[in-house]
Amino acid sequence: MTTLMQGCTGTKLLTGKIVGDDLVLPVSDFKTKKGNKDSFKKYIIVQHDMLQYPVCVYRFSENEYAALWMRCTHQGTELQVFGDKLQCPAHGSEFTSKGLVQNGPANAMLRTFPVIIENNQLKISLKAA
Ligand code: FES
Repeated sequence: MTTLMQGCTGTKLLTGKIVGDDLVLPVSDFKTKKGNKDSFKKYIIVQHDMLQYPVCVYRFSENEYAALWMRCTHQGTELQVFGDKLQCPAHGSEFTSKGLVQNGPANAMLRTFPVIIENNQLKISLKAA
């Protein structure tokens, strides 16, 4: 087991904004600098008082994101993110950055939320399952 808490691609814990049924965050939250070149974080973990679990938002490309509910589908433990995967500290289940099961005992994929991009903001619809 690794004791590394964060991937080297950088993560950021921030409080999201909830507007209606959407969790909203600016696309620019993913921007970061490497030397003097712009680069992008692989994922951001969003927390909010109204959310029982954090949401991990992965960025695959300019137009491709995935928002994952960080609740293990085995027995509901909060997951931890390690780069491209999410791990459960309880019994070791692992999920991919798209929410698919990579290792049990969990046998159902993570809950994911649709993400749309509007005016340089990501809108993550929390209503849709
Ligand atoms: S609760 Fe996550 S593996 Fe059991």
